[in-house]
Amino acid sequence: MEETRYLTFALGKGRLAKKTLELLEEIGITCEEMKDKDSRKLVFVNEERKLRFFLAKGPDVPTYVEYGAADIGVVGKDTVLEENRRVYEVLDLGFGKCRMCVCGPESSRELLQHHERIRVASKYPNIAKDYFYNKKHQTVDIIRLNGSVELGPMVGLSDVIVDIVETGSTLKENGLTILEEICPLSARMIVNQVSMQMQTDRIKRLINEIRQNWELEKVRKEYKDK
Ligand code: PRP
Repeated sequence: MEETRYLTFALGKGRLAKKTLELLEEIGITCEEMKDKDSRKLVFVNEERKLRFFLAKGPDVPTYVEYGAADIGVVGKDTVLEENRRVYEVLDLGFGKCRMCVCGPESSRELLQHHERIRVASKYPNIAKDYFYNKKHQTVDIIRLNGSVELGPMVGLSDVIVDIVETGSTLKENGLTILEEICPLSARMIVNQVSMQMQTDRIKRLINEIRQNWELEKVRKEYKDK
């Protein structure tokens, strides 16, 4: 009975989607049509397992999941925190690892220590607000940007930025540095709250398959390293 309807996945476009498909392939779930780069199709189906996939802009993934348009979503923890939607976060997928940090020129370090009223530019205004207001108890002005946030302190728009740091090369190449670390990030699986009740077995099975695959990978790696 449970298997009769499609289980729908919303995947954040880009690197995370590619990694997610690799992960699903490792547990035997493939979606060949999704690999066709020339295709303009938006929704893809795996008939055998009754699964449906679509690619969406990262910040929209939690929205699709909250409203039940997707049962499951895969997005970065940054998006989960920023969007703060009513969804269950069920699994840390372990890839897409990076950090949310306060960054800026070395000269801005002092402004953070003395709790001055500074300007903070970010693509993540909610994360920035929570960090400065609730954790640091520092009143700041938050300026929302949509990308290339590193420009903020470079052109005099802001004193610091709150942004993702992965390799650190964007900061380095632009004369900026990590001033404070907010939290570690990685890809997460999120689930619609009703789907979790109605499709419990299918969703739990999927989570277990991913976990078992990790265990297997670990054993394989240990064996190879010996
Ligand atoms: C992200 C982030 C940083 C950069 C960090 O930007 O906002 O700019 O990657 O990566 P690094 O530490 O490896 O250099 P993204 O490439 O998503 O583009 P954006 O600046 O337009 O948001």
